[in-house]
Amino acid sequence: MFVTSRTDRLAAGRPRPLPAVTRALHWLTAAILVLMFALAWTFDALGPSDTSASLVSLHQSFGLLILLVVAVRIVWRVTHPIEPLPGDTPRWEMRLATLVQAALYALLIAMPLVGLYASALSGDTIRFFGVALPDLVAMNEDLSDQVFEIHGTIGWAILALTGLHVAGALNHQFIRRDGLLNRMRIW
Ligand code: HEM
Repeated sequence: MFVTSRTDRLAAGRPRPLPAVTRALHWLTAAILVLMFALAWTFDALGPSDTSASLVSLHQSFGLLILLVVAVRIVWRVTHPIEPLPGDTPRWEMRLATLVQAALYALLIAMPLVGLYASALSGDTIRFFGVALPDLVAMNEDLSDQVFEIHGTIGWAILALTGLHVAGALNHQFIRRDGLLNRMRIW
């Protein structure tokens, strides 16, 4: 039977969880993202020190890791399309959800690349969990400062979009009560 209305769907039970790989990649991205902001705000608050240098180094390594995770996610998502939102979801909400998700993917690729470029311009040797990457960019502190400004601005955009994304999920869970969150359950 094709389930369309909310009552039908509630009667039919909660939406089935998405494939385990989809859910693992989603929550791994979210966890690394929380860590990235926590590290950035902590080293920013600490100012120059050995501790802060270690935190910057961790931030750089996890930033490159998130780039890999998001690249894998995009390939996985393209090759494994997910079911559409429930049929009674308003069209504008479906469009907004797709737009927010696409923008998040784009910014989660742009953010690490911009951070990588700004760090390289600052003269840092960037390490991926201890392994040094080749220095391919000539040092330019002024340009580095400008690119770090862009890094900070993209950070706020990611936070705003994540807020919208979470608001959408909470709307389904507590207002529409269609059990959609079950699709992304952790286990
Ligand atoms: C999704 C990945 C990333 C997120 C969410 C993120 C987030 C942030 C945020 C919020 C800040 C503070 C910006 C400010 O208020 O000035 C920051 C600073 C910084 N990020 Fe990232 N970042 C990411 C990836 C990277 C990568 C891959 C690198 C380098 C390989 C990097 C290097 C840095 C450095 C060195 C700073 C300090 C900038 C300064 O000295 O002002 N970030 N990052």
